[in-house]
Amino acid sequence: MKNLNLLMLEADSEISLVLEKLDKYGICVIKNFLSELTLSALQYEFDQVLSAGEDHFNFTTNKNFSYGENGQVAKCKTVNMTEDVKAIKSTFTSDFMRKVAEGYFGVDCEINDDIYLTHDLPSKKQILPWHFDRQQSLKFYINLVNVSKRNGSLEYDIGSHREGHFRANYYVLSGVEIKNIPNDIPAEELHNPTVIAVNAGDLIIFDPDGFHKGGVVSVGYERKVIRGHAHPIPIRGYNSRLFDAHWWIQSCLNLSKILKTRGSRTLPRERLTRANLGR
Ligand SMILES: [Fe+2]
Repeated sequence: MKNLNLLMLEADSEISLVLEKLDKYGICVIKNFLSELTLSALQYEFDQVLSAGEDHFNFTTNKNFSYGENGQVAKCKTVNMTEDVKAIKSTFTSDFMRKVAEGYFGVDCEINDDIYLTHDLPSKKQILPWHFDRQQSLKFYINLVNVSKRNGSLEYDIGSHREGHFRANYYVLSGVEIKNIPNDIPAEELHNPTVIAVNAGDLIIFDPDGFHKGGVVSVGYERKVIRGHAHPIPIRGYNSRLFDAHWWIQSCLNLSKILKTRGSRTLPRERLTRANLGR
């Protein structure tokens, strides 16, 4: 619990504080990020999409599937979202999320171009084992029900984001394609594994270079999550490897972006008000 308290911020905190937490821990939690009205709207839209049990509102639904082998996942390109899910779209394309992602990476970002709705149900299998993501991103993650370990909530090894980043870069510099980077993490290599127990409507932001997992959903519990992935531009694809044509093009573009915008990491000291969150 001590670890978890380190990550907490109030909804009216300055963006610079969000970035300080992310830099230091790789993760932060903004309490009561959503108003009750917006949370209800997201819950309604989530249920509308997934209760259809098939593709609905331009979402692609993977019925009877989750990583924990009992649940459902639906995915949609943000640009294809209809007015039927306008609360999801406006929440995950907010100016606030753009400022956080671009402040974190120091370059322009693709903000939550894909949105995932996941509904995990009781299973003997954990949702995902300890790992770091192969593709670089910043994740914006909202639970629609209160979660603790019994819901299979997200777990994060606080402060491991640099370690994961160095490991990924080591393999990339060795010529390994991004999709082939070994990314499983044995439990004995963890330092601060923490159950991210939060309430519905809190916003978790995390760098998935840090070690993380999804737990086991116990009988009588569930987990409902909407998440978006923000990627620094240019996005390094799963087939990228060091010194291929794709790599050079991206590296040159990235360098020019860094030279132009690196200073923007000194951030606007704005507050997370309902007005600038578009709520
Ligand atoms: Fe992951």
